[in-house]
Amino acid sequence: MKKLKIFFLLSLMMIGLGSCIYDWVAEEEVPPIDGGTEISFSTQILPIFNSGNNCTSCHKPGRTSPDLTVANAYSQINQSKYINTANPTESLIYKVPAPNGTTHRHKTYTASEAALILAWIQQGAKNN
Ligand code: HEC
Repeated sequence: MKKLKIFFLLSLMMIGLGSCIYDWVAEEEVPPIDGGTEISFSTQILPIFNSGNNCTSCHKPGRTSPDLTVANAYSQINQSKYINTANPTESLIYKVPAPNGTTHRHKTYTASEAALILAWIQQGAKNN
């Protein structure tokens, strides 16, 4: 009988612990990207690079490549190493600054920026 009680208590504790775990993880809300809506390079992607010199403080002419300034960004990243439409998550323009990326220590995308970049590549990375 005593053993049964202990077993019962232990089970209760485990159920209690299990239900807590999710409360601790505060994830950033990522707005779902509607697959039917076309992402615009000029109005949605470029601002990620340029607003507040987010990326262009370093990625500009004469500095670190790729040059991500408005005039040059598309032509600079329009190569297979930066944009891999066959395997979008392998594109360096997505992968290097991804929130969980380990190679680019300077700056990372927010979760929603990364989702936009990935969806734009999946849609064919158009200069639209
Ligand atoms: C503080 C300077 C700095 C900022 C800001 C910065 N980067 Fe970088 N980035 C670098 C440097 C330096 C490298 C070279 C590799 C390294 O040191 O990680 C690099 C490398 C890269 C690469 C890989 C280039 C290649 O050919 O392999 C990509 C893609 C990239 N950055 C994109 C971005 C994006 C997108 C942003 C904005 C979200 C950004 N970077 C912000 C400094 C910066």
